[in-house]
Amino acid sequence: MRYARMPIEIESPEQMGYDLIRYNLSESSVADRPLSDFDIQLDDTLLCYGDHLGDPELRNLIAGDTPGLTADHVLATTGAAGALFIIATSLLSKDDHLVVVRPNYATNIETPRAIGCGISYVDLEFDRGYALDLAQVEAAIRPNTRYVSVTSPHNPTGVVIPDDQMQALVALTQKHGVLLLVDETYREMRFGDIPQVAASHGDHVISVSSLSKTYGIPGIRTGWLITQNPVLMELFLAAKEQIGIAGSVVDEKIAVAALRQRETWRVENQARINAGFAIVKEWIETEPLIDWVEPAGSCICFPRISADAGIDPEAFYEVLFESYGTYVGPGHWFEQSDMQFRIGYTWPTQDALRKGLAGISAALRDPAVAARTAIAETAE
Ligand SMILES: Cc1ncc(COP(=O)(O)O)c(C=O)c1O
Repeated sequence: MRYARMPIEIESPEQMGYDLIRYNLSESSVADRPLSDFDIQLDDTLLCYGDHLGDPELRNLIAGDTPGLTADHVLATTGAAGALFIIATSLLSKDDHLVVVRPNYATNIETPRAIGCGISYVDLEFDRGYALDLAQVEAAIRPNTRYVSVTSPHNPTGVVIPDDQMQALVALTQKHGVLLLVDETYREMRFGDIPQVAASHGDHVISVSSLSKTYGIPGIRTGWLITQNPVLMELFLAAKEQIGIAGSVVDEKIAVAALRQRETWRVENQARINAGFAIVKEWIETEPLIDWVEPAGSCICFPRISADAGIDPEAFYEVLFESYGTYVGPGHWFEQSDMQFRIGYTWPTQDALRKGLAGISAALRDPAVAARTAIAETAE
């Protein structure tokens, strides 16, 4: 494995220091919750090794009432990131090939790269509404392809793979005898009806998710993968046992408490997501220098700065942070142009969101950005 740190982690707000950021529009979750939000007593928790698959009640709650799924199909992991790592390192070697729909969450690209396998990218484009073209996916599949990796709702765009297209992707991957990895970390944040867990559509489909985004508790690092295939489950469990044997019993107890109040929190979340979404939508509709592909889920979007703004993005981000205290997720976090950036509109308060958006508009027109842009152009 050739590990390399990812810009999205190096430049993450927690690594920069939360107190340095006035308006944090870079986060991709609902607001983080304190432990006091839980009606939970941890004092009598026996600090033993837990069930290697994960606490049975936790796995039961995750399987929920999804048709065909039981607790046996769920492996609790260290966040969705841990699940993605287990899947990539269990399934891929240098001689294998992977199809990644990009942009994608950085780990879905970086771990396969560290393994050194062959990767084909299917690039989603702003000007095509980030729509997925299944013919491109099919054309990218090779005899040694192990899996196709997609994310829906999508980070950073918030765009969703429609249900009929997901079904077609399930059928396409089955036809070619390859696995389908669906990173559905934002599934419960889809606007309108929440789609069924992808892994319930076939035993060649693997779902990944966590409590970080929808539940706002990334600090307990609890996620999972779901597969109906017992051979894959045994392989993934072997990987988990070699990485850390079992998960944290404390984290899993908190995770159970979080999932027990799933319905209450979902309603609360939806209200916050709707309010933040309305604020961003209004801003974009009245801001001539910014355009977007309107998201259909999650709590994030990936707007684009108009070429007419004539700015150097590096200068823009610097001035945005230093003069307007606003931090967003620049395009390079997702291997995209820095003329685009991710906004998380549910983590900040509505007041901070409004001030951050106003900061973006001001920075786009700031003379210091224009001056720095002119210097950058002269240097070219
Ligand atoms: C699509 C997606 N997958 C996985 C992760 C990893 O999240 P975690 O490990 O906190 O569950 C993230 C985090 O941003 C994400 O956006």
